[in-house]
Amino acid sequence: MRLGPILAAATLATLVAACGKPQEDPAGTSADTAAAAPEAPKLSDAEKQAILASYPAPYNTADLANGKSRFALCQSCHTIAPGGANMTGPNLHGVFGKKSASNPDFKYSDALKNAGWVWDANHLDQWLAKPQTYLPGTKMSFAGLKDAKDRTDLIAFLMVETGHKAQ
Ligand code: HEC
Repeated sequence: MRLGPILAAATLATLVAACGKPQEDPAGTSADTAAAAPEAPKLSDAEKQAILASYPAPYNTADLANGKSRFALCQSCHTIAPGGANMTGPNLHGVFGKKSASNPDFKYSDALKNAGWVWDANHLDQWLAKPQTYLPGTKMSFAGLKDAKDRTDLIAFLMVETGHKAQ
């Protein structure tokens, strides 16, 4: 059990070192990534899995492919790539560890401006279950994602894609 995080960190270190070398993608996996999210940082699937493994449970064993499919529910309103546009909802890059309503270019509801929490997996889990109940007065019109496993997978996908590093 205790070897898990150490191995994950070692794999991550190797991968991070490999990142310095350009043109490491002969199989063209980045084209696959690009089709789904045009401006996403170019991480290989193996790099994403290594980042995932560094997160605390249950996120370390989440299903990223399912998380990506669930993100279809968000994508009409949110971008996740660095510097992505604000649409109906704010760009979500770097959202983990940030205070709620802190994107300076987005007009938030008073409810979210006054919420004053820092986004982490727990807050996001409750938020995504039913935003209007968790924060009455929010202008995020999203009915909610009922299935807890779907939320875990989606949150893990978001952590990887929005650049969240486990500390
Ligand atoms: C119909 C559009 C819409 C959909 C769909 C939607 N959102 Fe939102 N989202 C918003 C809006 C609008 C806000 C700002 C809410 C406010 O100010 O009260 C927001 C805010 C957020 C925030 C807070 C950001 C911050 O800077 O504090 C997060 C996190 C978030 N959404 C995640 C998601 C995820 C994940 C999904 C998909 C499951 C999703 N949203 C689906 C419109 C949407």
